[in-house]
Amino acid sequence: MLILGIETSCDETGAALYDTEKGLLGDVLHSQVDLHAVYGGVVPELASRDHVRRLLPLTRSLLERAGRRVEDVDMVAFTQGPGLGGALLVGASVAAGLGLALEKPVVGIHHLEGHLLSPLLAEPRPEFPFVALLVSGGHTQLMRVDGVGRYAMLGETQDDAAGEAFDKTATLLGLGYPGGPALARLAENGDPKRFAFPRPMLASGDLAFSFSGLKTAVLTRVRELAALDEKTRADLAASFQAAVVDVLVAKCLQALDQEGMQRLVVAGGVGANTMLREGLQRGVARRGGTVYFPPLALCTDNGAMIAFAAALKYPHGRAGDEGFEVHPRWDLASAARAR
Ligand code: KG4
Ligand code: ZN
Repeated sequence: MLILGIETSCDETGAALYDTEKGLLGDVLHSQVDLHAVYGGVVPELASRDHVRRLLPLTRSLLERAGRRVEDVDMVAFTQGPGLGGALLVGASVAAGLGLALEKPVVGIHHLEGHLLSPLLAEPRPEFPFVALLVSGGHTQLMRVDGVGRYAMLGETQDDAAGEAFDKTATLLGLGYPGGPALARLAENGDPKRFAFPRPMLASGDLAFSFSGLKTAVLTRVRELAALDEKTRADLAASFQAAVVDVLVAKCLQALDQEGMQRLVVAGGVGANTMLREGLQRGVARRGGTVYFPPLALCTDNGAMIAFAAALKYPHGRAGDEGFEVHPRWDLASAARAR
């Protein structure tokens, strides 16, 4: 079965082809980073318009490169939520149109379920059950995953997501959008011990997170410092990053202990962060466990994870279609329960 996956929830237009027998046949992406950079963040209306411009040409080039015709597609999967309403509607309408024209089923995929299952695209493939850390621009969650569609929330952030904290702190340090990767680059030459930033909720005893105070702590230090030379900016970035990584690593280990598990799966944009990857590898290996990451290119938003999630959820296809509906706000555990 050949599945076309479409991702338009935020600022990347993604399309991919996944064959349930042969695996991933193609994955194309257009990032809107340059479009939004001048505004310092994603402008929803511009995002929607750019998805309109990009999605069909991108899909055409995907099919061409994979040597397939659109008639070969057996199922169309699209990101149904959560995300920007207008942006989601672009993917939903293209998927619905294709489904109607091809007389093929159309399935809506939860964006976070796409992220969550994407480490299964890599080898070695983690076995169920596992603990998953979802760290993106909009979410920081620890979940227990017992199988496809069987997710239980263990803890999540009470305010900003880790990616959001990276982005906001990057802005404070005068870095452009998207801030996460830029801040991580700046931190490479910094001293992570120079500034002792708080480790929010490290000792809270539960698996909840809070990152908004950390950004304020950086802001306070920036105001206290007379001048922000290059070295100081790098030290601030490194010290901030170390605080985020410490908390994420500690809570992941705590979640593994609590669930009595040895497998940790990391997904979402912040999963591309080298310090986080190294910290988790070290911490989990020390207790005899294994960490699984999606391939680096699939950490951030992409169509491959959407096609792949559809393949896992509906391995034998599915009758009917999801229509046109999108869910800009959508909680994964309740979405899984509703099915
Ligand atoms: O999963 P994603 O592409 O989109 C959402 O669904 O949110 O994640 C984007 C987030 C952004 O906040 C971005 O700054 C962050 O992931 N990010 C990083 C890195 N690469 C992306 N944060 C820290 N270090 C990175 N290397
Ligand atoms: Zn995402």
